[in-house]
Amino acid sequence: MCGIVGYIGFEQAGPFLLDGLQALEYRGYDSAGICLNDGSKLIVKKAKGKVFDLRTLTHDGHDTKGTVGIGHTRWATHGEPSDVNAHPHLSESGRFAVVHNGIIENYQQLKNYLTAKGVVFRSMTDTEVIAQLMEYYYKGDLIETVIRVLEKLDGSYALGVISQENPDEIIAVRKESPLIIGLGENENFLASDVTAILSKTRTIYRMENDEIAILGREGVKIINTDKEEIHKEIETIDWDVNAAQKGGYEHFMFKEIMEQPKAISDTIAPRIKNGRVVLDEVNLSAEELKQFNKINILACGSAYHVGVVAKYIFEKMLRIPVEADLASEFRYRDPIVNEKTLTIVISQSGETADTKEAMKEAQRRGSHVISIVNVVGSSIAVESDDVIYTWAGPEIAVATTKAYSTQLAVVYLLALYFGDMLGTVVPDEYKALVQELEDLPNKIETVLENKERIQYLASKLFNSKDVFFIGRNIDYALSLEGSLKLKEISYIHSEAYAAGELKHGTISLIEEGTPVIALATHEELIAKIVSNIEEVKTRGAQVMCIACDNHKELERVGETIFIPRVCDMLLPSLAVIPLQLFAYYVASLKGCDIDQPRNLAKSVTVE
Ligand code: G6P
Repeated sequence: MCGIVGYIGFEQAGPFLLDGLQALEYRGYDSAGICLNDGSKLIVKKAKGKVFDLRTLTHDGHDTKGTVGIGHTRWATHGEPSDVNAHPHLSESGRFAVVHNGIIENYQQLKNYLTAKGVVFRSMTDTEVIAQLMEYYYKGDLIETVIRVLEKLDGSYALGVISQENPDEIIAVRKESPLIIGLGENENFLASDVTAILSKTRTIYRMENDEIAILGREGVKIINTDKEEIHKEIETIDWDVNAAQKGGYEHFMFKEIMEQPKAISDTIAPRIKNGRVVLDEVNLSAEELKQFNKINILACGSAYHVGVVAKYIFEKMLRIPVEADLASEFRYRDPIVNEKTLTIVISQSGETADTKEAMKEAQRRGSHVISIVNVVGSSIAVESDDVIYTWAGPEIAVATTKAYSTQLAVVYLLALYFGDMLGTVVPDEYKALVQELEDLPNKIETVLENKERIQYLASKLFNSKDVFFIGRNIDYALSLEGSLKLKEISYIHSEAYAAGELKHGTISLIEEGTPVIALATHEELIAKIVSNIEEVKTRGAQVMCIACDNHKELERVGETIFIPRVCDMLLPSLAVIPLQLFAYYVASLKGCDIDQPRNLAKSVTVE
């Protein structure tokens, strides 16, 4: 989704702004722009398309002098992707420039008001009203004006503002949309996400709602809307810069698929001590845990698919009813949630607007919230009651792989931890499961070694128009993710279906040559899924099957990929690997933009 970057210092701002925008490309966007104060006026350069186009237009940012500037990558909400709708937006006379992430919900009223006063708008965006309001209210004091404008805005925003008359300041504000300030020597930075400034500094301020930052060359002052100074703690980012680079791989997605054994090990290992799962992050006693009569899982996209897997695992191991809910649906359906409901929120970014709002709804209704989040210090992590971090490191490809896998790993840890506290997992089973969990990264390595076979199968199917994924129980939950991965990055239509449900509708779509990817790992249901496979084969389907290596007889059902047999709970972590690789190779054969699929954003910070 949209990205913000800003620079103030003694160097030319343009080249850094472009590098920063390039680092934010992974979030997904459709146009980009920069604005610099050249000492006497604001100069804006914008281009629909990629940062590469903006680089060409600006000679890599060298064509405009100026040591203060703001930049933006836009993911269109109000108004089509175009040069004119790209940010930064100028006020009518060109005195103020604004970049904005989020949505101004009352922009139409504000626009009507200003239009009636004679203000002429250029774009279709909600953001332009902020720039125009700045000019409308300006009486010579930049901060006063920003505060006045903020009073008028409803919605969410992270803002960067520069003014023609103040070449020595950038103003930054946040409300419900992430924003950080990077601290350098004789230079300071603004960004929606640390990846944009990692090459320059690792010390940051993390902005909170309604804080206003005034960035100068030699310092940063943070105030509240009453102009009182706020003293914030400096945070140091300990990410490895290489983690946000491709490191010789053609795509981030492939690199991240290959990083999964390490990411899972980093997530699990510190939480297993002497054969026991230790989750110090969870502030619930056994007594408190026993009070819950329901678990409620809230998430979007792939994180929701982790929630569907978790439903099967928790219900089996904890004997508590579990509902996995799409956060965007949960919010508006008057859910039955109260203090007897334990809510688990899953989010890679920790900033997904729907997930965040659903979490707040659950909290309002008295539910205790545990979040599973990858980005440290993100809104969901901070606002949940307890947070369990996944240690996947930065995930850059829009289509998630290693974050999904580490979220699954936390689900296993929680199942064991709670199962032990509730007494629903017996000691022998517990011991065996912990041992298998510790060995999981090695097992994943062996599945990754089989990648050429999956590449070969992708080469047979990449011209398909429709692909079906079927499975039962956890295999069904996993098929949802396999199908989404394929759709997201290869643009091939696909559907995931509970295998037993197929004959109640979707089987009418199966014809000669239709690819069906059957997940057949769940031991208890092998015979059932084999019957479903026969049903589609009889109707001409071309079957690719994923099965455990103790069921070699499944070779006869189609092109079969074998994964090592592990306990049922852990199977999704192995079976998802061929699904990720399959989607990746198909998209690669089709020449798709794998890391930044069309229309998609990594972190969806609008509703
Ligand atoms: C977007 C991404 C998905 C992701 C979903 C939830 O739609 O494209 O890959 O699964 O958001 O994101 P989160 O950061 O909350 O896990």
